[in-house]
Amino acid sequence: DFELSDIEMKALDSLNRPDGGWGLPNPHEILDCNKMTEKSLAPHVIAKEIAPLGEGAMSLDDYKQLYAQSIADPSAFWSAEAQKRLDWFTPFSQGLAGDFHAGDVTWFAGGKLNVCYNAVDRHVLNGNGDQVAMVFEGDEPTDIRKITYLELQRKVSQIANALKMSGVRKGDVVTVYLPMIPELAMTMLACARIGALHSVVFAGFSAEALAQRISAAASKFLITADQGRRGGKSIPLKDIANAAREKLDCEELLEKVLVFERFYHPESELPYERMPKDVRMDELVAEQRPYCPPETMDSEDGLFLLYTSGSTGKPKGLMHTSGGYALYAAFTTQNTFDLREGDLFACVADCGWITGHTYVVYGPLLNGSTTFLFESTPVYPDPGRYWDMVQRHKITQFYTAPTAIRLLMRYGDEYPTKYDTSTVRVLGSVGEPINPEAFRWYFEVVGKSKCTVVDTYWQTETGGHVVTNFPGITPMKPGSCTLPSYGIATAVLDPLAGTPVTEPDEKGHYEGVLAISKPWPGMARTCINAHQRYLKTYLHVYKGYYFTGDSVILDQDGYHWIIGRVDDVLNVSGHRIGTAEVESALVAHGAVAQAAVVGQPHEIKGQSIAAFVMLVEGQSESEALVNELKNLVRKEIGGFASPDMILVTPSLPMTRSGKIMRRILRKIVCHEVDSLGDTSTLADPSIVDVLIEKVASFN
Ligand code: WT7
Repeated sequence: DFELSDIEMKALDSLNRPDGGWGLPNPHEILDCNKMTEKSLAPHVIAKEIAPLGEGAMSLDDYKQLYAQSIADPSAFWSAEAQKRLDWFTPFSQGLAGDFHAGDVTWFAGGKLNVCYNAVDRHVLNGNGDQVAMVFEGDEPTDIRKITYLELQRKVSQIANALKMSGVRKGDVVTVYLPMIPELAMTMLACARIGALHSVVFAGFSAEALAQRISAAASKFLITADQGRRGGKSIPLKDIANAAREKLDCEELLEKVLVFERFYHPESELPYERMPKDVRMDELVAEQRPYCPPETMDSEDGLFLLYTSGSTGKPKGLMHTSGGYALYAAFTTQNTFDLREGDLFACVADCGWITGHTYVVYGPLLNGSTTFLFESTPVYPDPGRYWDMVQRHKITQFYTAPTAIRLLMRYGDEYPTKYDTSTVRVLGSVGEPINPEAFRWYFEVVGKSKCTVVDTYWQTETGGHVVTNFPGITPMKPGSCTLPSYGIATAVLDPLAGTPVTEPDEKGHYEGVLAISKPWPGMARTCINAHQRYLKTYLHVYKGYYFTGDSVILDQDGYHWIIGRVDDVLNVSGHRIGTAEVESALVAHGAVAQAAVVGQPHEIKGQSIAAFVMLVEGQSESEALVNELKNLVRKEIGGFASPDMILVTPSLPMTRSGKIMRRILRKIVCHEVDSLGDTSTLADPSIVDVLIEKVASFN
């Protein structure tokens, strides 16, 4: 039997420590489940057996050597990759320029290319026009569309021409609020084709949140659909978009609102209210020529914006570039997932998040592979949906989040066992640390102990994987995202000193915050219209480093164990939410004077939201008020951000200077009242017992 080492014990403990709220709350249960055989922990051997790597097969030593080379001269390493993996209209004259100090990083300066051309056209020109580029499976398992590269080129061209007709020009920001249908991926590619930046807003966001993103980017174009469908229910996207237009300066800004109709029929009755500036997109698209010449873009021209939550303030619009991002997406998709000819790559994330951008659209298509688009949920029509799809489509790589695995585990082994999943070689995990129990189930029950499970650590800001194992190369350790990817110089910093932790602790481990010391092509270059904020958040926290916001333990093998965010960013079912955003939604209610939000461990979601609210004079607590507050968060952000627990409290634990001590609230909701620390600095220390009592009596 395999014995856990000290570091693994410690990291598992921290992984599951209620404080961080990551993973399951009971470490002992998990340690039991983690008594795996040695064999299952070294599945690189197994991966090799079932998927011989053939020419170019690499060992762990090869990885170490190539990694060292990539870190020694990132500019040379990535220049060679950029020449190999991308078609350039004009070759670049320089690899890396700029640095973290000045915040002026550029990759492949002087190079001209078009990312849509690279993702679509060149495969048609190479004679692969008949290959399926996308397999779409809608909410209903019978709703399947297969689109070849040639069809994709035509359809994307038509959409691109429709955008041009509607006035979209190079450099414009196009807000995309669409369900997970092929038109979403095609619209992203169409924007890339004409040099417009897409800003995809996840269709689970509310009208308020959509309006905020349109306004922040001064976007003149909105693309939406009549409705989306999930789990048999329809989502009235156009109604939500209409509501967004009434907020902020949206109606003033917007020149055109282009509407795809989910089940288009020219004569069918519209299930939504038309507004001025609306364009029926399917009609406009049908009239367009199926070829649109791709715009020539500079390597450093923006490819897209993606808004993401930070610890303070409004979401920030991170900008990714054309050359660097595209290379990084292509490179990581191939290496992390051992992508080969004939593969059907399935990332079941929504394009509303970075995972969908990089691993549904850009990564697989830039590699000329076949990508899978999934509109529904893991439990519709039943919890066998994923494995049924794997069997029917012969999926070779399957990529999802720990929260989905934990959810499906609850329904038992029966579902994955019922289906033939033997085509899968690589199972991927992303979004939060995967707790070993979920890892075991994924590996043994879904993968039948024959697949590599890649635990991919990365962020919206990193563009693609930065720490991950590689199939057939890196031995796995459940719960650890293992070793850095090529060109990624990770560093463990002392959070206070800001310098690398050089002295290991008595067990030979390094604990600190995770940073990266050298630029890589996939890194976001700025927050749109807020470069100072970009510098302040990522590059000037620790001089000379990119700061991830996560804490980490590095074990004696150099394996990375992510503990969790050190800032006030929550991770609920893989959705990134800033505590400040939820708090500002809550205080928007007239009855609320002040609010404080913290994360609480949740068996399936990883974290759930706990909110403490102080009411204004004369207001009193009621069930109705709590419901109003939950609805308000839904309205301001979206359903996924709604708190599981809202407690009305006479006051909050504050310092005498008025700073809310969230640390104390976190300990209270995690039932860690023995380690509250010093509470004597609180303006009113007696509030602690009141809150402990309240939390205890919340059923
Ligand atoms: C945060 C980034 C990037 C894809 C989805 C989330 C956490 C992500 C892992 C992992 C441990 C992980 C981190 C990170 N995270 N993947 N494999 N192991 N933690 O993107 O919304 O930008 O969130 O997700 O805390 O900082 P995101």
